[in-house]
Amino acid sequence: GAGRAWSTCFVPLSTEIDASTARVRSRDRLAGLELTCEIEALGGGGLRLRHRITNLDPGPYQLDWLEVALPVPDRATVMLDLSGRWGLERVSQRRVIADGLWLRESRGGRPGHDSASVLCAGTDPLRFGRGEAWGVHVAWSGNTRYVLERQPSGLTTIGGGELLLPGEVVLAEGESYTTPWVHAVASDAGLDGLAAIQHADLRARSPRPRRPRPVTYNTWEAVGFDQDPDRLLELADRAADVGAERFVLDDGWFSSRRSDRSGLGDWWVSPQVWPTGLAPLIERVHGHGMQMGLWIEPEMVNPDSELYRRHPDWTLGVVGRPAALRRHQLVLDVGRPQVRRHLVDSLESLLSEHAIDFVKWDHNRELIEPAGPDGSPAAHAYTVGFYALLDALAARFPAVEWESCAAGGGRIDLAVLERVHRVWASDTTDALARQSIQRWTAQLVPPEYVGAHISAERNHQTGRRLDLDFRAGTAFFGDLGVEYDLMAEAEDLDGLAAWISLYKRHRELLHSGRTVRVDTPGSAVWIHGVIAADASEALFAYVQLEDTVADPIAFTTPGLAPEARYLCTRVHPADSGGLGPDVAGRALATIGLAPPARKPETVMLVHLRAVA
Ligand code: DGJ
Repeated sequence: GAGRAWSTCFVPLSTEIDASTARVRSRDRLAGLELTCEIEALGGGGLRLRHRITNLDPGPYQLDWLEVALPVPDRATVMLDLSGRWGLERVSQRRVIADGLWLRESRGGRPGHDSASVLCAGTDPLRFGRGEAWGVHVAWSGNTRYVLERQPSGLTTIGGGELLLPGEVVLAEGESYTTPWVHAVASDAGLDGLAAIQHADLRARSPRPRRPRPVTYNTWEAVGFDQDPDRLLELADRAADVGAERFVLDDGWFSSRRSDRSGLGDWWVSPQVWPTGLAPLIERVHGHGMQMGLWIEPEMVNPDSELYRRHPDWTLGVVGRPAALRRHQLVLDVGRPQVRRHLVDSLESLLSEHAIDFVKWDHNRELIEPAGPDGSPAAHAYTVGFYALLDALAARFPAVEWESCAAGGGRIDLAVLERVHRVWASDTTDALARQSIQRWTAQLVPPEYVGAHISAERNHQTGRRLDLDFRAGTAFFGDLGVEYDLMAEAEDLDGLAAWISLYKRHRELLHSGRTVRVDTPGSAVWIHGVIAADASEALFAYVQLEDTVADPIAFTTPGLAPEARYLCTRVHPADSGGLGPDVAGRALATIGLAPPARKPETVMLVHLRAVA
């Protein structure tokens, strides 16, 4: 009950250690609570930690918060985490660590577009390639907290956990609550060192995206809700022509979904739009040897839908208050078994009646006042329910690959990544914005998981015009796809096909190597690349974001084997010449290659191969 065991003092009872995990059990007899702390060493060099608390007392125990906190040494004097917004996710921010608390919360029932994502402390200067660094990530797809605290005494801790709403977890006798896993990494090689461990940890876990990653074509920015079967059949032909290996039919294929105002919840193929069903399109797609993908948004409902008319009480919200609509939709209470059962049944029929290889799972609005039927907070149960729903479908359709999308990158975390094979980093496909979004998404997620699409010359979101070389050279460093109208006359489809075929030549390296972001002075040029695990080859990008007064900086490519000599070749469909005699790895790291002629919004890709 309220106020019970508000102050605790746990005494260790036992420690169990097996190959990769340690479990420390402790008890507070007076408070009637048992706490187990689990620490697991992961395959890539990181750790993950979590706590389980059990109420041993006959009276109820209300848990307000329980988090993982780890000390960092006093020489960590600066910190970095991420923020952002819809369409511009994962923007880094830095501060000097001062006495007090740095708290980042997400309250929208998902990590959010502004998620801290990684909270790092480090020695000053903390750079991509320099500095001792310590970082945490909260592997939870719901409400979260990230905390960095420095006591005036000098003790600094970093950590986090789930943000619990008032009264959300009340444990009866014998009941337990387990915190999300908190991933912890440490490196003396700066932010890239931390990212390398995160990537290796994730790569060592399942589900591993099957490789080679298929080049995806997505219909959203080409046709929006305006789905015309003949046009889509033709788009599938064109997608295959340019080298796509997966065709994803996005929002708009089902029930009354002709705009975002209607149809969510009714997961059957629209007989008006698709009078002969999806089979002809699926056959065409498979006939081209491409995989078939389909968009769904299972956790949501439009009030204008059959589902809502039948079950208006299945949504989250405080009864008696007007429900908060966002994008004309409400959130289903997937924490309730009955709601989940319905969704599993309808999606199971959809996926068994259609040969679908890939599902893009969207979540387009935040939870606001997530109350269950009795008015009590239901965000925790919602997140657990989301996992149960996805897990049930994934178990039923083991060959399907899944993508986590939440109006772009609103639900990217290591718990959802234990379940999906891809994340959609942002609704913004503008390559200039993507340079930054992908640069910082890489702090947590390796490139082969991060959907990166070449979109139209004039960007759908920003209206900016960027040429194909820049758009393709940006999408190269992710799980590449294409998302624009391939029937539009202005577009250079041969050029696109040539870029895709170049990417296919390099994707094995790009999807297995170590990501390097180079510390460059100023903000006009970014250099980044991927180096093979054995340093036998690498691919680097010199990205001129904007014009500058200063002379162009050298194209340095650190991280190669210092003694090895590398042959450097430009990677470009029309201009892929060698860049002179071979150069030592050490010289490439320090002196670098001559920078390309300066032009804003350009990217130059270089492949480096060690010569025997
Ligand atoms: C938001 C996603 O991020 C987009 O890619 C697209 O799938 C739309 N939703 C569809 O409603």
